[in-house]
Amino acid sequence: MESIPANRRLWNQISGDYQDRHDARIGAAPRLWGMYSVPDAHLNALGDVTGKRVLELGCGAGQWSRALAAEGAQVVGIDLSEAQLDAAASAMGADRYPLVQGAAEQLPFADDSFDLVFCDFGGLSWAPPHLAVPQAARVLRRGGRLVFNVASPWFEACYDEAASRVTTTLQKDYFGLSGIAEGDGATSYQLTYGDWVRVLRGAGLVIDDLIEPRPDRGTTNGYNETDPPDWAHRWPAELLWVTRRPSTTE
Ligand SMILES: C[S@@+](CC[C@H](N)C(=O)[O-])C[C@H]1O[C@@H](n2cnc3c(N)ncnc32)[C@H](O)[C@@H]1O
Repeated sequence: MESIPANRRLWNQISGDYQDRHDARIGAAPRLWGMYSVPDAHLNALGDVTGKRVLELGCGAGQWSRALAAEGAQVVGIDLSEAQLDAAASAMGADRYPLVQGAAEQLPFADDSFDLVFCDFGGLSWAPPHLAVPQAARVLRRGGRLVFNVASPWFEACYDEAASRVTTTLQKDYFGLSGIAEGDGATSYQLTYGDWVRVLRGAGLVIDDLIEPRPDRGTTNGYNETDPPDWAHRWPAELLWVTRRPSTTE
């Protein structure tokens, strides 16, 4: 839980600038995943949400939540940062949905509350997965799904901090990937493939798919420099996990 205060501070500080730079791209169309805005229509990760109780973990300015509310989902957005929640509240349209301030590692919801818990570089990138994944599993009803997108270990291992870019050279160890210092005590999180599998299965979840979104050649990355520019067309930059809490009959 130690990173909660620092992560809240960081996102309160950077929210305005972050939204100025990225909001238009994130919200350019409904359901765009990750750093390359890959449409969910190409990946089929979320499925139909009509009438479903949906929780977005780390909803930021609510670009995803807003789109799913407009599709008829009963969405709740939770985020640690009041500045991010203010951005979500200001952008809310006719399809209103509740916003809650809280942390992915200690969700303020009853067991079995949601049909779908999801995020796109949200709470599962910014809270320790060994705490946040069991919380997400707890609030899912049986048969409900946890779907989330995070950076891949390839991307992290090839990120050159000094040059602020992703390269074709291994820059840091793969084994031991865990907390990534984001300054002033703020921390984001990344696991190895094996550790993700163990954390997900340890929370009682079944892994239905691991989608590796592959942007078309020439698709720009909205957040990071990569060398070569088509890095993510050649190697997986993101992991989109599709998991499920088993039903009572499984
Ligand atoms: C990169 S944004 C993701 C939101 C949106 N999908 C986007 O791309 O802008 C990360 C979000 O996670 C939130 N966050 C950070 N730590 C969190 C935590 N422990 N629990 C819940 N949300 C957290 C931040 O405030 C921020 O809004």
